[in-house]
Amino acid sequence: MRLVTQVSEVHEFIDEYRVQKSTVGLVPTMGFLHEGHTSLMQRAGNENDKTIVTIFVNPLQFAEGEDLSSYPQNLEKDISECEAIGIDLLFVPSSEEMYSQPILTSVQIDQLMNTIEGASRPTHFSGVATVVAKLFNIVGPCNAYFGEKDWQQLQVISTMARDLSFRVKVLGCPTVRQPNGLALSSRNAYLSLEERKAATALSRSLQIASENVQAGETSAAVIKSQIVDEITDEALVTLEYVEIVEGNSLITIDQIFEGARILIAAKVGKARLIDNVDPYFGIK
Ligand code: PAF
Repeated sequence: MRLVTQVSEVHEFIDEYRVQKSTVGLVPTMGFLHEGHTSLMQRAGNENDKTIVTIFVNPLQFAEGEDLSSYPQNLEKDISECEAIGIDLLFVPSSEEMYSQPILTSVQIDQLMNTIEGASRPTHFSGVATVVAKLFNIVGPCNAYFGEKDWQQLQVISTMARDLSFRVKVLGCPTVRQPNGLALSSRNAYLSLEERKAATALSRSLQIASENVQAGETSAAVIKSQIVDEITDEALVTLEYVEIVEGNSLITIDQIFEGARILIAAKVGKARLIDNVDPYFGIK
């Protein structure tokens, strides 16, 4: 595995890969890799000749007062995991390398960015889209892998790639969960043992909602209130929102149908956790 920190070095490797006519799989991350990330890397490895992982805690996607300075990191462990999986190129740029000048350009995706998670974090998705656009341009044509745990992010990035004609195929991959249902997230590192247990209320409420939808309940209001009740029972969890939307457009719906998505966010101790489900599929 080659570990590089400069954009120009990525270009050199990419140029080689193109000469070899190798297909390229890209897995952008903010590091502190867990099994959710490694599942993306393994899939990228299986489906492409060369696999590139990026680790960059992107300051643009954190607002004032969010956890940029405390975001968990363990670069040494991440490097050994990437090596063990057989990643070809690991790109770990500094902030200065990514944003050598104050950045004047940003990517906006109308309608998808200011709703749900974006209503709570108004600058977040523009920060995500801008850094991912940079990574797509740095790497060029590739297959890019993102987790479905960040469902809205996946829709934002897919729409950006389509609208701006990136030669990138954006692929969503299923959320990886602990056996108790808790969706893997780097931010789970903030949870105490007790909070970790309490946090399973998120996936549990989504699973109960899915079972009710599969049993025939289609009223979004009814399903929402069942989720609220389930989460309110858990004292250590404070629900921020539950939204039921059409999965790609993220438009709120009153009646649940195939293609709907239920998204929730909650505070558990210091951590702000998100989760989502296709109610016709459920938490697997
Ligand atoms: O999902 C993440 O880890 C980040 O939002 C991403 C896509 C790597 C952009 O910084």
